[in-house]
Amino acid sequence: MDAPSGRRAADLDPEVGPASSSPWWFGAPFGCGREGLTLDGRSLAAVAGRHGTPLYVYSRAAVRAQVAALRRVLATLEAETRVHYALKANRCPGLLEVLRAEGGLGIDACSPREVEVARAAGFAAGEISVTACMPSNRDLDAFVAQGVHVNLDSLSALRRYGARAPKGTAVGLRVDCGIEVGYGCDPKLVYGNGKFGLQPDAFDEAAATARAAGLVVTTLHVHCGWGLRMEDGPQMEWIFTRMAELAHRLPGVEVVNVGGGLGVRRQAADRPLSLAAWADLLRRHLTPAVRTIACEPGTLLVDRAGVLVVEVNTVERRGGTTWVGVDAGHNVNVYMAHYGIPIEIVHLARPLDPVEASYAVAGNINESNDVFARAALLPRIQEGDLLAMLPAGAYGASMASEHCLRGPAPEVVV
Ligand SMILES: Cc1ncc(COP(=O)(O)O)c(C=O)c1O
Repeated sequence: MDAPSGRRAADLDPEVGPASSSPWWFGAPFGCGREGLTLDGRSLAAVAGRHGTPLYVYSRAAVRAQVAALRRVLATLEAETRVHYALKANRCPGLLEVLRAEGGLGIDACSPREVEVARAAGFAAGEISVTACMPSNRDLDAFVAQGVHVNLDSLSALRRYGARAPKGTAVGLRVDCGIEVGYGCDPKLVYGNGKFGLQPDAFDEAAATARAAGLVVTTLHVHCGWGLRMEDGPQMEWIFTRMAELAHRLPGVEVVNVGGGLGVRRQAADRPLSLAAWADLLRRHLTPAVRTIACEPGTLLVDRAGVLVVEVNTVERRGGTTWVGVDAGHNVNVYMAHYGIPIEIVHLARPLDPVEASYAVAGNINESNDVFARAALLPRIQEGDLLAMLPAGAYGASMASEHCLRGPAPEVVV
């Protein structure tokens, strides 16, 4: 890992501040120095020169800033609050160290191995909340042995967990409010009406099942969606109102966990649900009814802190398209190939230069969908150039695969 305290003066570029005509992504932690794109003032060309490509680079300062911003809005709520970082977003040990050092943060885990990673990073069992889907008996045995809090979303899992956990074990019920919100209408992205969560009409039966199994329901959980947008406000209002009603119906409930879903911009047109708007929804619809609000942000805390650096190996015109080949594919970052979610591509040496051409940027995996962008507008690109893809701090490295035996990309924290 690169320690920020170890920075030499020569590594630091004089920064260009954001101008009014700057591209949408420009601004902390991204800047521009003598060698091009910088992360926290650190030349990404220099970091890539040291570690090679493809390479994920994360900013400590950006993660800390996001934690601070979240804490500021939570402090405005008249309720006890808990933050469980969603480890599935990024489990790089260096980033977990940063989050651990913040103090007072817990972890949202979804599998026994995620719990192990959280424990190895120094989080206590009591700081870890598990929300697993379709858990096996093996998983449930592990959660009991690990002594972590578990939220469950099926009658089957409640019955099987109750048969294993000590009588009186606290449990959470994950609810599906039947509302589809978030970044896209694609079934790959929405959480309502899907495989997760107890539908409200199964709620009473689930509570009775938990009771009969010797479990005590202390938590209600809902994860509304990924990449929540400003226009999702009315639906979020409905979901939070519904959660308050359900909490009221079950007297033992102390915590409503509203999951993750807060996002960051991925393209100029994006209007993510702001922290202030989110807190306002919580304040108006949930905190009057609930003592403790928990949340599980992943993307919000780490996405904008990360960038993927790749090297161009091919520039070639075929038909009417100029193809740019890079040394990473959807095995390293799945956003475009799997979800169709854009990732911004920036010329690393000349991030603010005017657009000179349109390029199709393709990865090195033998799949036709392994294309990062069909028409990226960029300054002139040559073989050997470096490109930056951003934001790339969430669900990049953590979703990487060994497909074609080309992964994974190393990760560095600056
Ligand atoms: C249950 C649960 N909580 C939290 C998260 C984190 O979501 P995000 O990264 O959108 O904040 C997820 C993401 O899939 C999730 O499934």
